[in-house]
Amino acid sequence: MTDPHGQSHAQPDGQPDAAPDTLLALARPLAEEVAAELERALEGDRRATTVDSKSTGTDLVTEMDRWAERHITERILAARPHDGVLGEEGADVVGTSGVTWCVDPIDGTVNYVHAMPGFCVSIAAQVAGERGPETVAAVVASPLHRDVFTATRGGGAFRNDRPIRCGAPPSLGRAVVGTGFGYDPDHPARQAAVVAQVIPRIADVRRGGSAALDLCWVACGRLDAYWEVGLNPWDHAAASLVATEAGARCEGLHGAPPSSAFVLAAPPDVFAELHDVLAAADAASV
Ligand code: IPD
Ligand code: CA
Ligand code: CA
Repeated sequence: MTDPHGQSHAQPDGQPDAAPDTLLALARPLAEEVAAELERALEGDRRATTVDSKSTGTDLVTEMDRWAERHITERILAARPHDGVLGEEGADVVGTSGVTWCVDPIDGTVNYVHAMPGFCVSIAAQVAGERGPETVAAVVASPLHRDVFTATRGGGAFRNDRPIRCGAPPSLGRAVVGTGFGYDPDHPARQAAVVAQVIPRIADVRRGGSAALDLCWVACGRLDAYWEVGLNPWDHAAASLVATEAGARCEGLHGAPPSSAFVLAAPPDVFAELHDVLAAADAASV
């Protein structure tokens, strides 16, 4: 349980409470608070426009990315000192409680730098599963869209507290499909060649610039499907749960779990057909 001050309490057996609802009760207000601060900072705060590049010249980080991750990490560890935290901007705390938080402080930093709406705060609470870390509670907060997506494992997916389900386009040919391109300069040419093979089979393609929002948009039916190669865990940890709890399949190729190798999310019928189109296009090889 988390009290109104955000401090979590141990269960009778001495273990910190790791119930998905408890974890979400900590993450959601934190994501909303950080999202509001990101929006405020767009009004002339130098921290939103102070930009460095990371892995490549197009992989950007602002002072707000760093502030947001520090703030989220501090607040989580103040409430749950035995948890771990893994974040894009360097947070790497190994915990002992069995819960690790996977944080993307701003997903869609390129949009943020351009003051475009497609950015969000993404926080996932994960536990060890049979096939790697499993997200049990998730929040994705998109301030300029006024959207807060939440999910708990087995508890459904929500947008602004209303239950969501993924859409069901009548056929792959009617599907609007999102995708993304990694920052590695060697990848986009190959990824564009795959897109060229996919376009004739679908209705249209979108490149939104935030993997977490792409997945949440599959969850609420704004997109009919989404795929990307080369994501990091924090890009999809929270939003994959939102998508699956909304009825989508979110997997890698050939039944693999979603990973940096490949993420495809879609309603089940579209998933099967698009999976085969992407596999035939050798979409996972970059
Ligand atoms: C990026 C976004 C983008 C995706 C990239 C990610 P960032 O995350 O999610 O849509 O195509 O692969 O790295 O850098 O904005 O956190
Ligand atoms: Ca990201
Ligand atoms: Ca980021």
